[in-house]
Amino acid sequence: MKRRTFLQHTALGVVAVSTTGFVRPNGNHFEGDCETTTDILGPFYRPDSPVRSNLVVPGAPGQPVTLRGRVKHKDCTTPYRNAKVELWHCGADEQYDNTSPEFRYRGTTYCDEQGRYEFQTILPVPYDDGNGQIRPAHFHLYVSAPGYQSLVTQLYFTGDTHLATDPYAASPLAKRRILDVRQEAGGRKVVLFDVTMTDALLVEPGALARLVGVYSDEKVPTQKTEFFKRDGQLWRKSGRIVYGLACEYLGDNTFTQAGLPPGMTRTFAFELLGDGRAKMTQTYVDQKGTKTTAVAFREK
Ligand SMILES: [Fe+2]
Repeated sequence: MKRRTFLQHTALGVVAVSTTGFVRPNGNHFEGDCETTTDILGPFYRPDSPVRSNLVVPGAPGQPVTLRGRVKHKDCTTPYRNAKVELWHCGADEQYDNTSPEFRYRGTTYCDEQGRYEFQTILPVPYDDGNGQIRPAHFHLYVSAPGYQSLVTQLYFTGDTHLATDPYAASPLAKRRILDVRQEAGGRKVVLFDVTMTDALLVEPGALARLVGVYSDEKVPTQKTEFFKRDGQLWRKSGRIVYGLACEYLGDNTFTQAGLPPGMTRTFAFELLGDGRAKMTQTYVDQKGTKTTAVAFREK
């Protein structure tokens, strides 16, 4: 998604810092800077995975692989020390571990002094998204580096036959996240991926606290939308989603769902009403450009 340049104070006391992090796809090339593009969080994120770099499950099938890279500041060069990198992916059985205390194929690591991170794991495999739509094999990454907006993205693999039919992998913004699986000396497979953080629109934690809660649709009150906060970020609960969907701040009391396919947007505009209630206007635009708007209220 495009990140905008904002510098403003709003009624919420939300503080925004400006960003120049534009990536402009131009055919097969990118113009602009080196920021890492976002991708959809997906339904299977679980927070608080164990701190470990080896996710290999002894005895389980799968092609061993090393994922390694660096996390860098927005100048594309300076290592970001101690950035938190969370990785999750499916096993060779196409399944995510969404419930077990083992957190299979899920782990958290922290970058070293040179900004390096590394995981030992297996290559994920393509899986049916539930409606016959096959997702190409992918790693999910969630990178948290204080001072920047947390980065949610996915990594794909060169040669995967499902890349072209997956709206997320086929997005121009995913081009630099389709990665070669290389063979290292000794025969081990390795995937390299560097992350560049971008300036973020930061939200004052106190402001988020005033937005969270359960909103009831004005026409169908039984239809609820719940927002909560974690690590300075606004999240939305949603149906089959294990944990929630992260929202990025656009400025002007408006948040957006990160990583949707090109042309599709979902935004949430908040308004604090004088009586302690809050109003949330959700605007959804599908890939055909059809716009739907819904208004919901949260009691005080
Ligand atoms: Fe996934």
